[in-house]
Amino acid sequence: MKNRYLDLRSDTVTQPTDEMRKAMFEAEVGDDVYRDDPTVNRLEEMAAAIMGKEAALFMVSGTMANQVAVMTHNEAYGNEIIVGAKSHIVHYECGAPARLAGVNFALVDNPNTFLYAADVRRLFRPLDPHFPKTGLVCLENALCNGDVVPLDVIDETCLAAHELGLPVHMDGARIFNAALALGCDAKRVSQNCDSVSFCVSKGLCSPVGALLCGSQSFIDRARRMRKVVGGGMRQAGVLAACGIVSLEVMTKRLHVDHENARYLGEQLNKLDGISANMDQIKINMVFWKAAQPNFRSEEFVTFMLEHGVKVYGILVDEYRFVTHNDVTREDIDRVISLMKEYIASIS
Ligand SMILES: Cc1ncc(COP(=O)(O)O)c(C=O)c1O
Repeated sequence: MKNRYLDLRSDTVTQPTDEMRKAMFEAEVGDDVYRDDPTVNRLEEMAAAIMGKEAALFMVSGTMANQVAVMTHNEAYGNEIIVGAKSHIVHYECGAPARLAGVNFALVDNPNTFLYAADVRRLFRPLDPHFPKTGLVCLENALCNGDVVPLDVIDETCLAAHELGLPVHMDGARIFNAALALGCDAKRVSQNCDSVSFCVSKGLCSPVGALLCGSQSFIDRARRMRKVVGGGMRQAGVLAACGIVSLEVMTKRLHVDHENARYLGEQLNKLDGISANMDQIKINMVFWKAAQPNFRSEEFVTFMLEHGVKVYGILVDEYRFVTHNDVTREDIDRVISLMKEYIASIS
C-alpha cells in the first residue's frame, strides 16, 4: 500500500503506518460529541499531558485547531491579533481569522520571521475609543519556513504579552520537530503559551488530525467553537487511534528525518551549481538554490515526476525538499542521481 511516488513536497504526504491501519481496525469507538469515544478521550488526555496543559481537543486539521483557538481567545468581534506576517495563520488559512473570529491583524514582519517581546509592546493597543482591542498574540514553532524559534525568544514574548494581559497561542503544527531541534520536551516549547495546537498528520504520519491544548475552561469553550465550525465528530476513535500511534511511536523517530535532511543538504551541495544552506536546516526541511541559467522550475518538476518523484517548483527564490517517514537514505541517493541526470541534460 506504499505510495508509488517518492514525494518530497511536504511531510503532510506521509502514509499512515501499518501499526496505524491495525489500530484503526481495532479501535473502540463511540459518539465523541457525547464524549463517548474512549479512543478520542485517551488521545486528548495523552496530548494534554504531553503538552503540560489541563485539557486537549481533537480536531480534523491544524488549520481548524488554530482557527478555533483564535475564535475562543476572541469571543467578541473586532479585536486585533498580533501575528507574524509570514505565519501559517496569516498566509495559508484563507483569511479565516477575519471571516470566523472577525479579527484584524497587527502584522510583525521581521527579516528572520521571529516575533519578539518588543513587537508585542509596540503593537499593543492602549484603551482608546478609536482603537481595536488587542486580543491575542500568535506564535509559531517550528516556523513554516523550517526555522525554529529559540526558547528565550518565546519566553520573553510570552512574558511581554502576559504583562499586558494578552493570551498567547502557539501554532505548533511541527512542535515535536522544534523540540528536537531545541533539545527539550515539546511541553517546554509552549510552556508559557496559554494554548498550543499541534498536528499528528504531518511528520507524525496520521491520516488526519490535530490537537488544541490549554486550560480546562479554555478547552470547554473551544469545544463549543469547534461545533460552530462543524468540527464535532462522531466515531472519531478510528482517527484518534492513529494519533495515539503518532504520539507513542512516531515522535520518537523524527530525528531520522532531521538527519536525512542534513544528509540531503550535504549531497545537494556536491551537485554542480546547487547550493543548500546547511545553517537553515533545523528540522526536516531543506532549502536550496540552482545557479544554472537553464535550470527551469517547471521542466525540473516534470522531469522528476516522470521518474517517479514529486517535488515543488521554485517557491519565491528557492526550492524546498522535505524529509519524512516515507523517505529513506536510498531514496535520497536516487533523487541526487536523478538531479545529476537533469543537470547534465541542461549543461
Ligand atoms: C505551521 C503550520 N501551521 C498549520 C498548518 C495547517 O495544518 P493543516 O494542513 O492540518 O490544516 C500547517 C500545514 O502545513 C503548518 O505548516
